[in-house]
Amino acid sequence: MPKNVIVLGTQWGDEGKGKVADLLTAKASIVVRSQGGHNAGHTLVVGDKKVVVRLVPSGILHKECLCLIGSGVVVSPEALFAEIEELKNAGFSDAEQRIKLSAACALLLPIHPAIDKGAESLRGKNAIGTTGRGIGPCYEDKVARRGLRIGDLYDMDAFAQKLKALYDYRNFMLKSYYNCPEVSYEETLQSISTMRDRILAMVADVSDIIAKASKENKKVLFEGAQGTFLDIDYGTYPFVTSSNTVAGGCTTGSGVGPLAIDYVLGIAKVYTTRVGGGPFPTELTDEIGKGICTRGKEFGAITGRPRRAGWYDVVAMRRAVTINSLSALALMKLDVLDGMDEVKICVAYKDEKGNILDLPPLAAFEYAKMTPVYETMPGWSESTFGVTKFEDLPIKAQKYIRRLEELSNVKIAILSTGPEREQTIMLEDPFA
Ligand code: GDP
Ligand code: IMO
Ligand code: MG
Repeated sequence: MPKNVIVLGTQWGDEGKGKVADLLTAKASIVVRSQGGHNAGHTLVVGDKKVVVRLVPSGILHKECLCLIGSGVVVSPEALFAEIEELKNAGFSDAEQRIKLSAACALLLPIHPAIDKGAESLRGKNAIGTTGRGIGPCYEDKVARRGLRIGDLYDMDAFAQKLKALYDYRNFMLKSYYNCPEVSYEETLQSISTMRDRILAMVADVSDIIAKASKENKKVLFEGAQGTFLDIDYGTYPFVTSSNTVAGGCTTGSGVGPLAIDYVLGIAKVYTTRVGGGPFPTELTDEIGKGICTRGKEFGAITGRPRRAGWYDVVAMRRAVTINSLSALALMKLDVLDGMDEVKICVAYKDEKGNILDLPPLAAFEYAKMTPVYETMPGWSESTFGVTKFEDLPIKAQKYIRRLEELSNVKIAILSTGPEREQTIMLEDPFA
């Protein structure tokens, strides 16, 4: 019986991880975030309530659930406390007590979004289209070993010295290279100092909590952020985020060994979206794409940016299946394809010499040379919205789903037919 289950994105983010994580948390005692930061936006819909979490794990809506933020996450205390305030206002008054942080989390400071924006504006037409939250610069500082961590707050004299060194270096870049205004070291120190006790009260040994929970046979859900093709190593580099979004990132970022993972559930839409710049072989820039975006309400959960839409990409999915050791897929937003004359599936890429590729390349400039090869299937006119049994789906929708399953080479565990928990077809329970 699986105890430790990973839920992660298999496309370019926004696949519906939040809905699935929230749904499965009914069975889990703990939900863990392992990478990324408040660039994530996971939407949870319960009745007429809609909550969007950024840094806080999606388990927060379940009163008994402990929410852990592992060492691989970059934490902006300001963003975290703003989110906790929103959760309190939404009726989750004990949210802060149920969230624990690793002392090894990198601290995302006010200088990081400033650098992020400066770097994006310098990139001009080659801009990545980041969320502007400072995620990349914070990970840069971590890897360069000049960053600050939550645990540095235990010794404020040493903290102030390290912060000064970081700000001197980053402000020099901001002013002299990016031509941007500096960020005040004094103001940052002052604001972090006021939040210090509150932050330290949330610190815990995340890795140890998970290990002990496992010994007690408790169920743990690892909630990925972003998606496989935004991974720093395996995504469409450089149009990626700055962390490992694949399954491996969940283990390093939370402090569990790879053999502790029992089940990896990949989340995908029955079409594809991406937000920001970068290659997207199946992108639809026509009315069909616009229709999908409108029906799917494809706007960033946090930034409000319009998402780009395209057909389901089996080539990319094949890579996602192996890279993440996927046990199964959750296919989301089937209802959005209702009423279309035909639906297409990208089954291969063709390069500029006419060679057929059944796996995607590893860099953005190579992707740009690919054209998709499609298989076309008839659409369905009936509504699938809110359907809860596979056999109640229109036959043509059933055939489309079964074809996606066959081509993707992985079984389907969950089918989603609407944003709410109940609007789900459960074919296999990952925790059962
Ligand atoms: P995440 O970042 O992967 O958690 O996904 P987002 O929350 O950014 O975006 C997914 C959006 O799709 C959210 O607005 C969800 O409420 C919505 N959603 C999830 N599943 C379904 C579904 O099956 N049908 C429809 N229509 N919307 C869904
Ligand atoms: P969730 O968890 C979709 C994208 C940005 C940009 C690139 C780099 O909600 O699926 P960053 O700010 O991380 O340096 O931006 O990554 N991006 C996301 N796209 N969903 C997300 O999170 C994303 N987080 C980052 O749009 O292209
Ligand atoms: Mg999102």
